Amino acid sequence: MTLAQCRIVDLPKITDPRGNLTFIEGNSHVPFDIKRVYYLYDVPGGAERGGHAHKDLQQLIIAMSGSFDVVLDDGREKKRFHLNRSYFGLYVCNMIWRELDNFSSGAVCLVLASNAYSESDYYRDYDEYLQALGLNG
Ligand code: TYD
Repeated sequence: MTLAQCRIVDLPKITDPRGNLTFIEGNSHVPFDIKRVYYLYDVPGGAERGGHAHKDLQQLIIAMSGSFDVVLDDGREKKRFHLNRSYFGLYVCNMIWRELDNFSSGAVCLVLASNAYSESDYYRDYDEYLQALGLNG
């Protein structure tokens, strides 16, 4: 799994003078069944989230309100994405280390996930993650 497989997904947007509408269907706009939804909110200024990779989990990360940055790292290269629109999602495949920072005031980070929460699916130690990729000696 590499950074090349992670991408911004341009979600459908039904524009309407009464207010816009965006929808997301599993196995259509995201390449997985949606098994879990969670969200980060009330993030204090300067806080950082993430700091882990997942063995199997795939995710779509959306800035539902406000903005924040997601730094993705596949053990070889890093890329920073700035999310600030509720109709763009960042697809993150498994085995990608991620850090979230630069949260604006009032930001809400919505995450659609391919599996239920499982702590055993996490790499929380960067060296252990690199070892699993066969990248550090
Ligand atoms: P974590 O995934 O480390 O948060 P983030 O990546 O956003 O910084 O999760 C933080 C805590 O919340 C951790 O104790 C596990 C718990 N948690 C759940 O119980 N269920 C969930 O679906 C998620 C995402 C986290």
